[in-house]
Amino acid sequence: MKRIGVLTSGGDNPGLNPCIRAVVRMGLHLGLEVMGIRRGYAGLVDGEMDTMDARSVGGIIGHGGTILGTARCPEFREVKGRREALRTLNRFGIDGLVVIGGNGSLAGAQALWEMDFPTIGVPSTIDNDVNGTDISVGVDTALNTILDAIDKIKDTASSHNRAFLIETMGRNSGYLALASGIAGGAEMVLCPEVDTQFEAVTDMIDKAYVLGKSHCIIVVAEGWKPGAQALIDHLRERKDTLGFSVRVTHLGHVQRGGSPSAFDRILATRLGAAAVQHLLDGKAGHIVGWVQSKTQLITLEEAISFHKAYSQDLWELAEIMAK
Ligand code: F6P
Repeated sequence: MKRIGVLTSGGDNPGLNPCIRAVVRMGLHLGLEVMGIRRGYAGLVDGEMDTMDARSVGGIIGHGGTILGTARCPEFREVKGRREALRTLNRFGIDGLVVIGGNGSLAGAQALWEMDFPTIGVPSTIDNDVNGTDISVGVDTALNTILDAIDKIKDTASSHNRAFLIETMGRNSGYLALASGIAGGAEMVLCPEVDTQFEAVTDMIDKAYVLGKSHCIIVVAEGWKPGAQALIDHLRERKDTLGFSVRVTHLGHVQRGGSPSAFDRILATRLGAAAVQHLLDGKAGHIVGWVQSKTQLITLEEAISFHKAYSQDLWELAEIMAK
């Protein structure tokens, strides 16, 4: 293997740049040429890439976003798009590919691997729902961003004796809501994995008020049904009986940006570097995950076989702590 490519794909997160840097610098260290593919699979289909050297990744370790850009690429879901991608890889003489991204991006990596192209993945999504790895790149920074918001909202909630719904990202996954709820001392967490009825929420708000709490924080994952907006509408109809008045904050894409935390910089560096080493060692068809504080290979097939849910003990802990 002489020349590898690296791309970032899908929703961005704050650990992508340190990961690109690690892939490039480990690649150069091992005597490889490294091509940075722009705009994820879209750039692969269209043949947009540049040769990377050590300087092209200088100064990026503390920056959120991705210097390569990212995109969602519907063409790549079709066989025709994938064949175009293979043509590009051949045209540029690329012998191996590192894909940095979440479930959709890793499914793309698996598709290339099934077409016999040596591809390896690094799990990277704030949702932390890639199967087989304890944590994905970007999760820690996003959690800290959410936590900062929860702490600030708590200040104003306590001053006004209010209940707050705080909506986090997580289309299919409640991990960010649950973990930030535990770290932020929330009274309740609503996740897509658990069916919680409006009645349970109003009962809890009422209980918090009667217990004499000064605030009531409910962290709602974006994917919880019927959704934060429907819940706030319901709570407003009940405003005369709730005790607390209620406000809602949607954190939105602020969770995807910002300077990566120390944990994310180190995780991204370890996984990105290990991905190149394993690719060279003939371990394509895997992701490099982080399991019990060590890098670990997991087949791409297993990694994308389902969206990982949070662990049940975390859920139980959140319930016990919310007294
Ligand atoms: O990165 C994953 C994710 O954060 C999901 O939780 C969320 O639903 C989605 O990205 C939104 O991404 P976009 O606005 O880029 O479509």
